[in-house]
Amino acid sequence: MFALFFAHYKRFTQQSPNSFVKFESFNCKRAAPETKTPASMDPDETELVRTSFAKVAPIKAATAAIFYDRLFQVAPELRGTFPTDVTQQGAKLMAAIGFVVAGLDRLESIIPQVHELGCRHVDYAVRDAHYDIVGDTLIWTLEKVLGAAFTPETRKAWIEAYGMVAEAMIAAPKMRAA
Ligand code: HEM
Repeated sequence: MFALFFAHYKRFTQQSPNSFVKFESFNCKRAAPETKTPASMDPDETELVRTSFAKVAPIKAATAAIFYDRLFQVAPELRGTFPTDVTQQGAKLMAAIGFVVAGLDRLESIIPQVHELGCRHVDYAVRDAHYDIVGDTLIWTLEKVLGAAFTPETRKAWIEAYGMVAEAMIAAPKMRAA
């Protein structure tokens, strides 16, 4: 109940496009210790993620719309946790993905923001199991949008990158609350 209230409270207080980087979650504020930076991405995989995301960037609004359509189709129970209109949310998601993609070769510089994002997701009542659903949906969407350009190697690289980010997001609030 509190988590739901908080998700709605945040929806009204966190409208800045830079919120991905700036907003500090209650879950993060509560705790302190440093969290561990995950191992670096393989440079070839980083390149595959980057070149494929560069193809998505010009059509990111449409890509986000496809993503949320698919997400609410495979997991209708998640619909209520998002605003009715997911246009803004889609832009924030794509900006966050862009931020991570740009920083894959210098993880230590982006991981604090990824941790903050993970802590904020606790406020949104997101559970660990949701990360697999979102990850599968992201991969499905990229395949749909990129077609043949989404080669098996590219898919593997995205799975690797998403897994790393999801792991860091899931771990952060737990480590800080410990
Ligand atoms: C790598 C994984 C993910 C990324 C990069 C991501 C990114 C974002 C971003 C950038 C926001 C905007 C608000 C903020 O910055 O705090 C957001 C909000 C949100 N995300 Fe995620 N997210 C991820 C995973 C998930 C998962 C697994 C769920 C589970 C369903 C989820 C559900 C939500 C919800 C409910 C909101 C708040 C919407 C609102 O109230 O406006 N996200 N996410």
